[in-house]
Amino acid sequence: KTIYLGAFAHCLSLTDLEVCSKGAIGVDEEGVIAFVERDVGLEEARKRHEGWGGARVLEVKDGFFFPGFVDTHTHAPQHPNTGLFGKTTLLDWLDQYTFPIESSFSDLTKAHRIYSNFVSRTLANGTTTCAYYATRHVPSTNLLADICLKRGQRALVGRVCMDMLSPEYYRDESIESAVADSKASIEYIRDIDPKGDIVKPIITPRFAPSCTADCLSALGKLAKDTDAHVQTHISENTSEIALVRELFPNSTSYTNVYDTANLLTPKTILAHAVHLSQEERKVIKARQAKISHCPASNTALTSGCCPVRELLDAGLTIGLGTDVSGGFSPSILEEVRQAIWVSRFVAMQSPSAASPNNAAKLSTAEALYLATRGGAAVVGLEDRVGGFEVGMEFDAQMIRLGGVPARGEEGETGFEGAGGPVDVFGWEGWEEKVEKWVYGGDDRNCVGVWVRGRLVHSTGRFEA
Ligand code: GUN
Ligand code: FE
Repeated sequence: KTIYLGAFAHCLSLTDLEVCSKGAIGVDEEGVIAFVERDVGLEEARKRHEGWGGARVLEVKDGFFFPGFVDTHTHAPQHPNTGLFGKTTLLDWLDQYTFPIESSFSDLTKAHRIYSNFVSRTLANGTTTCAYYATRHVPSTNLLADICLKRGQRALVGRVCMDMLSPEYYRDESIESAVADSKASIEYIRDIDPKGDIVKPIITPRFAPSCTADCLSALGKLAKDTDAHVQTHISENTSEIALVRELFPNSTSYTNVYDTANLLTPKTILAHAVHLSQEERKVIKARQAKISHCPASNTALTSGCCPVRELLDAGLTIGLGTDVSGGFSPSILEEVRQAIWVSRFVAMQSPSAASPNNAAKLSTAEALYLATRGGAAVVGLEDRVGGFEVGMEFDAQMIRLGGVPARGEEGETGFEGAGGPVDVFGWEGWEEKVEKWVYGGDDRNCVGVWVRGRLVHSTGRFEA
């Protein structure tokens, strides 16, 4: 049993960020939050909760606890390409950068090195739950699940299906083999974690242009038969949408292609959703499918500025995705900033910077909500993670602030703890400290990460 002592922050609703300067969060042996006390000292917290007298205490100094981030969309095998996209857009980027690197994951030694590295990188950035695309290859997909399970990161791991319009060297031979390979990976992952507490399988048709209608339907049936999660891409880029119209002339929209195949379920994650029509939004909402907003990627590949406010107003459930390597960063904190930036570009375009639509702008609290509770709802874990509430599981990061110490100078610099990139001077209120972290922070501020109360990453900069 552990009492996490000190300040904490978390989102109560889309617009409400609670910051508590003096908290005590009791976490039991199962990693479940037993109590959350506000504005009491350790002694009082212990007194109020019988049996917690001898509990271990872990205090955050010069910082705060924050819920672990949920990355609702990323591609682990594309990690080596992070930052490489030149001036390409989606379809030529796939041919030039993406298919070549993914095809090399037939090599298990290489897969082990890159997947281990990427899981370390996402954990170091505070991501406690991640929806991963792997590749077509079953052995390396299963290896990614092994790595997540061993490291303790919650993950949805998907074997990518693609039986059409893909290069000779990287495609599924038939619908039957695509389904059989997907099934094999689902069974493997359910075998290594039968309760699915840490790793779960996710059915992954790459996107409509990579899959025949029959393959999509077969995967829709597989989703029903196995009750598995589903992830794919939707309406990311206008050339892609035109291609879908050409490839599926009988469908009324991109959304309709997936709907016809029974791939829109409450457990479906649709990445990007930049250019959806009103009608498509209604269908997605009616099917209770979820959206992964990937702002860094959408800008890098010049896919478009996703009108997130409109999607929120349409009642859709939304989380953030790094979409490495369309996106250039494995950090959801970076994605929080990017989501805020893109919302401002949307505001400046509607209708103009002279008369911006301020309602389109996301607040810091809203972007943090998408990064935690929103993402948790996208992956079906809204009752278990995303906030600090009794009965939820303790998925958290310890954030320390305090930058370069001003040694040899007169006076106090205030917080000198972590040596991270955020300078604080002692006068800031807790809301201001959180804002400074959001805009200036990175993995150096994330000194400890827990999943279900298990320490899964640490920089050694806190005393356990
Ligand atoms: N659409 C199909 N495949 C991909 C991919 O790997 N990344 C992105 N961003 N979009 C895709
Ligand atoms: Fe993607």
